[in-house]
Amino acid sequence: MSWELLLWLLALCALLLLLVQLVRFVRADGDLTLLWAEWQGRRPEWELTDMVVWVTGASSGIGEELVYQLSKLGVSLVLSARRVHELERVKRRCLENGNLKEKDILVLPLDLTDTSSHEEVTKAVLQEFGRIDILVNNGGRSQRSLVVNTSLDVFKELIELNYLGTVSLTKCVLPHMIERKQGKIVVVNSISGIVSVPVSSGYCASKHALRGFFHSLRTELVDYPGITVSTICPGPVQSDIVKNAFSEEVTKTVENNFDQSYKMATSRCVRLMLISMANDLKEVWIADQPFLLMAYLWQYMPTLAWWLTNKVGKKRITNFKSGMDTDSSYSTMWKKKHD
Ligand SMILES: NC(=O)c1ccc[n+]([C@@H]2O[C@H](COP(=O)([O-])OP(=O)(O)OC[C@H]3O[C@@H](n4cnc5c(N)ncnc54)[C@H](OP(=O)(O)O)[C@@H]3O)[C@@H](O)[C@H]2O)c1
Ligand SMILES: *[C@@H]1O[C@H](CO)[C@@H](O)[C@H](O)[C@H]1NC(C)=O
Repeated sequence: MSWELLLWLLALCALLLLLVQLVRFVRADGDLTLLWAEWQGRRPEWELTDMVVWVTGASSGIGEELVYQLSKLGVSLVLSARRVHELERVKRRCLENGNLKEKDILVLPLDLTDTSSHEEVTKAVLQEFGRIDILVNNGGRSQRSLVVNTSLDVFKELIELNYLGTVSLTKCVLPHMIERKQGKIVVVNSISGIVSVPVSSGYCASKHALRGFFHSLRTELVDYPGITVSTICPGPVQSDIVKNAFSEEVTKTVENNFDQSYKMATSRCVRLMLISMANDLKEVWIADQPFLLMAYLWQYMPTLAWWLTNKVGKKRITNFKSGMDTDSSYSTMWKKKHD
């Protein structure tokens, strides 16, 4: 075979590989490392059984679905959030549909902003189950309001809840994990922790703060390879997050009944979260296009990303001002093109 032919063949292979990656990317609903782990990595069904898992924000949305899927794997569960009756409802459903017994589930009411109570609730978990294998920091709230119209208290509240509440609870659990030289710390962050968008400035700030904090923590734990830190960044997912979002004032929520069909199914997001947990992935992005593309651009081509964000961000502001869901229109534009 001549050298020239070999070179041509190599070039063809490279082109094919590029094409395959492109097709994978267009169809992707998570970053390519995560989707590889879904295909070739460790299964949640092998890795997560028998673990003691503490989930905050378990009364609704992503946290609720997470405990349903975990309960099928045969784990011990601690369900935390503020609304006890909702947690009791979730517990009943876990018992009906999962493989768990009454003694495997602890309902533990918790307000993330009440940091003085965190030491005590952590003790309660250890008393009940003797250990904490996985802490899933999931509880949090979003925001829909423009900076000019938003009171400073809203920004404070978002930091107190999403950032400091999460930091505080993690700090309570950390000594225990260090003592055992083992544990998984999972943080439900957001694509908004990577991509900054208008109308959610305080939320973006709180999620960026979390991302920085937990990447630092991971490096502080290099001498404990048994302790892993995972940042999970979902894009739009079906839940009550927009209904519960802060608005211009702390006391005002968004209260709406927007159509959520364009968002990712909660069950798919949670399945990919379990894959990430089973494979100890450091950071994962779980989002349909075009949100996934935006994350890649912000990470790898910021100048282009800022230009594009100003273009599509305008649409988000117009939507917000006219009382519509902020993200619905450009995702339906994308869906129409690709269906
Ligand atoms: N859905 C999305 O599109 C999306 C996208 C990216 C990231 N996320 C993240 O996913 C996580 C879960 O949100 P979700 O979408 O499932 O929204 P959700 O349905 O509104 O659930 C939020 C959960 O957080 C809890 N929570 C709120 N304030 C709390 C407090 N002060 N103390 C303790 N718990 C509190 C709520 O329970 P109580 O009200 O009973 O306390 C609820 O269980 C959040 O961190 C959010 O930022 C969501
Ligand atoms: C927001 O602020 C702008 C500029 O100050 C003002 O024109 C507008 O009416 C405000 N909107 C709300 C909802 O308060």
